Amino acid sequence: MVIILLGEVALDDRYYSIAIDGPAGAGKSTIAKRVSRILNIEYIDTGAMYRALTLKILRNNIDPLNEEKVIHVLNETEIDFKDNNIFLDGIDVSKEVRENIVSQNVSQIAKIGEVRNRLVNLQRDISLRKNLVMDGRDIGTVVLPNADYKFFLTATVEERASRRYRELVDGENLNIDLDDVISDIIKRDDIDSNRKIGPLRKAKDAYLLDTTDKTISECVEYIVSIVLRGKE
Ligand code: DC
Repeated sequence: MVIILLGEVALDDRYYSIAIDGPAGAGKSTIAKRVSRILNIEYIDTGAMYRALTLKILRNNIDPLNEEKVIHVLNETEIDFKDNNIFLDGIDVSKEVRENIVSQNVSQIAKIGEVRNRLVNLQRDISLRKNLVMDGRDIGTVVLPNADYKFFLTATVEERASRRYRELVDGENLNIDLDDVISDIIKRDDIDSNRKIGPLRKAKDAYLLDTTDKTISECVEYIVSIVLRGKE
């Protein structure tokens, strides 16, 4: 099949999707963003959706462990994506959702069943309207089990923590300690992998890509070449 890469046009009868999963700091969002630009398709960062709700919970001084209150806020919250930006109740919070305090609390929010149900449904709805690359923890296993292409990215804990550390320092979070970042990542991996619903797992049919010693370009090329091969 010949494919012309037009983001808004499905060339065979339906839109195609690329699922990218993996733990925090494996490089998913940087890589997925570049893949989306090369293929001219939409990028959906599902982590940003969980982060947006977490931001609202923290702003309202609600304890992330208080599920009842979190669900109450969830029911009064609108989360949306426009032009690669995340909107919380109509306001662009793309920058705020990256704050460290959000990273430290988001896994607690993301393990609540009602939260996952609502956001997974939203993610599936989006996938019906566009060619896209979507990244997260459960995209290939739960959100889009029939995704056309699935990838699972990994890297050592040390490498993932040092990437996250550099990102925070570049964002002028100068009081950050690398050991704290390592323990935050380990804690987040543990909660994300051991929760009952939609845990972090490699789908059986996902390509495994260890990004530890690879450049971003190498990872992007690997993914794009597999997608283009499949679309020929
Ligand atoms: O990819 P990230 O670091 O922005 O994700 C933030 C958190 O959201 C992460 O700790 C786990 C959760 N998450 C999830 O449970 N399911 C997804 N599909 C995406 C993210």
